[in-house]
Amino acid sequence: MSSSTPEETAPYGGAPAAPATPAPVRRIRTHHLREMKERGERFSMLTSYDQLTAGIFDEAGIEVLLVGDSASNNVLGNSTSIPVTVDELLPLTRAVSRSVSRALVVGDLPFGSYQASPEQGYLTAVRFMKEGGAHCVKLEGGVEMAPQIELMTRGGIPVMAHIGFTPQSEHALGGYRVQGRGAAADRVLRDALAVQEAGAFAVVMEMVPGDVAAEVTAKLDIPTIGIGAGNQCDGQVLVWQDAFGLRTGKLPRFVKQYADLRSVLLDAARAYDSEVKDQSFPAPEHTF
Ligand code: KIV
Repeated sequence: MSSSTPEETAPYGGAPAAPATPAPVRRIRTHHLREMKERGERFSMLTSYDQLTAGIFDEAGIEVLLVGDSASNNVLGNSTSIPVTVDELLPLTRAVSRSVSRALVVGDLPFGSYQASPEQGYLTAVRFMKEGGAHCVKLEGGVEMAPQIELMTRGGIPVMAHIGFTPQSEHALGGYRVQGRGAAADRVLRDALAVQEAGAFAVVMEMVPGDVAAEVTAKLDIPTIGIGAGNQCDGQVLVWQDAFGLRTGKLPRFVKQYADLRSVLLDAARAYDSEVKDQSFPAPEHTF
């Protein structure tokens, strides 16, 4: 009896047919990002908060998807990230983690869910891993968050840190402003070294001068991910509604718009509205 499977058997004796199913796509793990840094290869990260964008970004080859607390002001109707809760973010995290086959999914710990103590942070992070299906978590803060990062890392939870401008501390930082200019550059480096030492596997740097971010990137072994931090970081992240033009109006200088989805949706919605009103939709082909 032949041991070959139907996929391996060439039709009419020619070359073996291609396998019926493509080889599974390798999942991105935290160590892959570090290996990419070591090879000098860049990686990309986008936010995602739902099933369909997660599937599209995964298919596009985006290595990391962040279910950001920016869902607060991109999905849930708030004006900042401060009000969003763990219970609001968990279903979004679950939707994204269920919808990717390759990307690393990062659950973002919201304001107030980890700052009180390492234990509080650990228990919140466990919920993102167990209930949200996240592969790792992100938290904001540098030196002062080292105990949280240490406990999570010891407890088996990979942590991405976030330093520079940290939106959850908007009011403490005196508004949206670049961090690490002039003498304050030392603070950014100290924060970066502290989170690396505590066990973070990567660090986001937001709104940091490009030369400071380049120096931090060169000094760290773990990958840096920039948002408004120049092109010398190991990876880049943007909020997808900003990058693809669903949100319009005044956007931060660091955003580049790769598409104008708002216009596409507006035109489509207007066309639908007008066809409903003039009864050209549904046409006979849409009717049973
Ligand atoms: O929540 C978010 O979107 C973020 C990015 C800005 C990095 O934290």
